[in-house]
Amino acid sequence: MKAIVFERLGGPEVMEYREFPRPELRPATVLVRNHVIAVNYGDTFFIRGTYLVKPVFPDIPGMEAAGVIEEVAPDVHDLKPGMRVAYIGMGSYAEFTRIRASRVMVLPDDMSFEQAAAFPVAVLTAWHMLHTCNDTRPGNVVMVHSAAGGVGIAAVQIARAAGAQVIGTVSSDDKIEVVRRFGAEHVINYETHDFAQEAMRITQGRGVDLILDAVGKPTFLKGLRCLAPLGHLVLFGRAGGLPERLSPTELLGKSIKVSGFAVTMIYAFHDIHQRAVNAVFQLAREGRLTVPIGASFPLAQAAAAHRLIQSRRSVGKLLLIP
Ligand SMILES: NC(=O)c1ccc[n+]([C@@H]2O[C@H](COP(=O)([O-])OP(=O)(O)OC[C@H]3O[C@@H](n4cnc5c(N)ncnc54)[C@H](OP(=O)(O)O)[C@@H]3O)[C@@H](O)[C@H]2O)c1
Repeated sequence: MKAIVFERLGGPEVMEYREFPRPELRPATVLVRNHVIAVNYGDTFFIRGTYLVKPVFPDIPGMEAAGVIEEVAPDVHDLKPGMRVAYIGMGSYAEFTRIRASRVMVLPDDMSFEQAAAFPVAVLTAWHMLHTCNDTRPGNVVMVHSAAGGVGIAAVQIARAAGAQVIGTVSSDDKIEVVRRFGAEHVINYETHDFAQEAMRITQGRGVDLILDAVGKPTFLKGLRCLAPLGHLVLFGRAGGLPERLSPTELLGKSIKVSGFAVTMIYAFHDIHQRAVNAVFQLAREGRLTVPIGASFPLAQAAAAHRLIQSRRSVGKLLLIP
C-alpha cells in the first residue's frame, strides 16, 4: 500500500510518500481502507517526537480517518466488512490502517467521509471539554482560543448549542468573520488586543466561566486573570509553547480550577465515549454542528498540509485524500 512514512524526527521534510507493507489483522482489530484522513496539529508533534505517543521507526503519522472496513478479526462480532466508519488511532496517513475495534465509530448513512474524518479528534475533544470536563449551561460565557482551528470551530458551535455565549480568539483579522459565522458573539484578535482585558470589558468586569486553551505559554496565566469566580480553564495543548508554572494557591482567591484533557484516554470509558458520539452525531443531524474543510491535499502532499497548519493561516480541518 502507499503511505506517508518517516524514519527520523523532524518537521514536514521527514515525511516520505512510498510503498509500505499493508498491516495484518491482530485479535480485536479491523482493517480500514481510509477514504479521507484528517490532519491534526498533534501530528506535527508526533513526527518531532514530542507527542504523548512516540514513533517506532519506520512509522506512519496520523491519528484519525474515515473509510470502509476491509477485514475484521475473527473475534470481532459487531463490525463487518463494508461498514462506513471513522476512528481515532495511530498510523492513519496510509491507504489502510489496522485499528482496535473499540476505537471505531459506525457512521450515520448521511454523513460524508469528509465530515466524518473531522469528527473523532476535533469534535469529540471539543464536546468532552464542554460536557465531560465541564457542565456547560445556558448563560455561561465560554472563551475558545484559536477559535478558527479544527477543535476551535467545533467548540464554538457546541458551546452555542449548549446555550453559552462564546468569545473566540484568533491571531489574524481574516479569521474573525468565519468564527462569527459559526456562532461566536465576540471574536478577539489576540495578537493585536489583550484578550483578558477585552473579556473583562465584554463581561462588564465579571469574567468568563470557561476557557478552552490549547495555546499554552502566551494565554495560560493571562487566561486565569479573566476567569470569573468559580471559573474553569481546560488546558488541552501547547501550540504556543509550554505554559508557565502555576502554584495551586493562586487558584484560591477566585475559587477557580485548572484541568487538563486528552481525548485519547476517553476511549477507555465506553459509556462516556458513547454519550459523546451520540451527542455530536445528533448535533450534526440537526445542522447545528459542521466542520468546515479548510483545504484538501492528496496524501502524497502531507508535508504541505503540515506546513499550512503550522503557518497559523488554516481555518477548520485540513484533509488528506489517499
Ligand atoms: N488534548 C487533546 O486531546 C487534543 C485533541 C486535539 C487537539 N489538541 C490541541 O488543540 C490544538 C488545536 O488542534 P487542531 O488540530 O484543531 O489545530 P488547529 O487549531 O486547526 O491549528 C492550530 C492552531 O493553533 C494556533 N496557534 C497558536 N499558537 C500557535 C503557534 N505558536 N504556532 C502554530 N499555531 C499556533 C493557530 O491558531 P491562531 O493563530 O488563530 O491562534 C493555529 O491555527 C492544538 O494545540 C492541538 O495540539 C489537543
